[in-house]
Amino acid sequence: MTLKKNILALRQKKAIVEKGGGDKAIEKQVAMGKMTARDRILALLDAGSFHEYDLFVEHEERNFGMDGKELAGDGVITGTGTIKGAPICIYAQDFTVMGGSLGLKHARKITKIMDHALRMKVPCIGINDSGGARIQEGIGALAGYGEIFLRNTMASGVIPQISVILGPCAGGAVYSPALTDFVFVVENISKMFITGPNVIETVLGEKISQEDLGGARVHAEITGNAHFYAQSELECFEQIKQLISLIPHSNQQKAVSEEPKKPKSGKNIENIIPSDPKQPYDVRDIIYALTDDSKFLEVHELWATNIVIGFGRLNGETVGFVANQPLYLAGVLDCDASDKAGRFIRYCDAFNIPIITLEDMPGYLPGVDQEHAGVIRHGAKMLYAYSEATVPKITVILRKAYGGGYIAMNSRHLGADFMLAWPSAEIAVMGPEGAANIIFRKEIMEAEDEDAMRQQKVQEYIEKFANPYVAASKGYIDAVIEPMETRDMILHALEVSKNKDDYRPAKKHGVPPF
Ligand code: HXC
Repeated sequence: MTLKKNILALRQKKAIVEKGGGDKAIEKQVAMGKMTARDRILALLDAGSFHEYDLFVEHEERNFGMDGKELAGDGVITGTGTIKGAPICIYAQDFTVMGGSLGLKHARKITKIMDHALRMKVPCIGINDSGGARIQEGIGALAGYGEIFLRNTMASGVIPQISVILGPCAGGAVYSPALTDFVFVVENISKMFITGPNVIETVLGEKISQEDLGGARVHAEITGNAHFYAQSELECFEQIKQLISLIPHSNQQKAVSEEPKKPKSGKNIENIIPSDPKQPYDVRDIIYALTDDSKFLEVHELWATNIVIGFGRLNGETVGFVANQPLYLAGVLDCDASDKAGRFIRYCDAFNIPIITLEDMPGYLPGVDQEHAGVIRHGAKMLYAYSEATVPKITVILRKAYGGGYIAMNSRHLGADFMLAWPSAEIAVMGPEGAANIIFRKEIMEAEDEDAMRQQKVQEYIEKFANPYVAASKGYIDAVIEPMETRDMILHALEVSKNKDDYRPAKKHGVPPF
């Protein structure tokens, strides 16, 4: 055969495999409101940048009618490409091919591209759309999952790993996304669960829909398994592009800088906190007042909303924000908020992203529910994460910094590099009302007018302790600053922290309370 004929034959062979499960299966996929695996890759990556590998890999299963059964690409597309110019590795499970089920060869295509990403030090993106372990392959499928989990763990903290759930992600399949850094879900399309509704009905006799069991909202709002939620696949891809442009592409690199920009003139930073200390406000308005172009990519926007985490830029460079959110539960710390912030802090630390902490919270949420849910163990994760982090760590106390929360929110005592406080800061062991009721209990009970005495003692406590100056007099706060000075102070702190080199004792690894 001439080369020309060979080329034509190759094109025909490729065209057949690129059709995935064929027209009927594609029609079914589209009818479900889903894009095909190939279209997803093309929509996410820079135009013309996708290069596919292992298109002709075939399964070797001979049992259960699998002998000779042709499965295009063994149900998964793998390759490399770029997103906003940044090289990435990607795989996308093809539901039109035997429900995107995972057999050994399918898994080995995934592990090969993961190995490649780890060696090349580029992000790895996995698009999940699969019925789980290919039942016909049995142990081969289980082995495949195990090999993926091992690589997820090896790559953790070295390259960013992103999971996109665009269909079912059932059984053991959920554990690869759970091991990765960021999970994206889409309304009506994403479904994640360990045991599906049919198993639940058989075993427990309970009827539940896939959506109610593990739909996009469930994971974005309740379980916290999903970090980003979108209404459509295209919106989801835009979120991924934004994230990739903000984060370093390995732990050996810095995030790509952008042209420094001032915050857009919006709300005056001095007017965001209400004059009544009991009134809430949206801490994101303070973040917008600080970041370049007032841009902020919030992570876990819908889960544990009493704390806000996410990425923004300061003078063109990426930073991570951790901020109490007085708008929800007065910004208290609880189990979920501690988990949310703890993992984000560790992400920033692993990828050399400085952490800015904005503090305004009345402490840990009291109550039997929290105690029994393990607030001691969960809260400790955050203490651990801040203490362990060696990236530049800057805290600004905006208002309340009470009790254990004061220590936990990147205090000087946990190793903050710069501790700044606004004049509105109240740094104390607890809120003035609670404190006065305890330490002046006798005087209040013996007074003719208990309420008047209580008010007087609360006022005394506020004047003495509920301010930043006691902490500043001990050197625990480095500077009491005006709100308008905040951005410049942080920019300067980041500038002088550029060569930060923090000592940690040698160890194999720590044993965090997870
Ligand atoms: C083999 C599978 C499959 C699987 C789907 N298919 N899942 N084939 N192994 N796990 C096939 C179907 O037989 C069908 O083939 C095609 O894919 C499309 O599936 P449908 O059922 O028609 O699609 P839909 O109605 O949309 O339902 C999707 C689904 C359902 C909810 C995912 O297919 C389902 O419940 N699948 C089984 C899920 C599951 O229990 N997986 C195993 C989990 S155990 P045809 O030829 O008819 O088109 C597990 C253990 C791993 O994962 C542990 C690792 C640690």
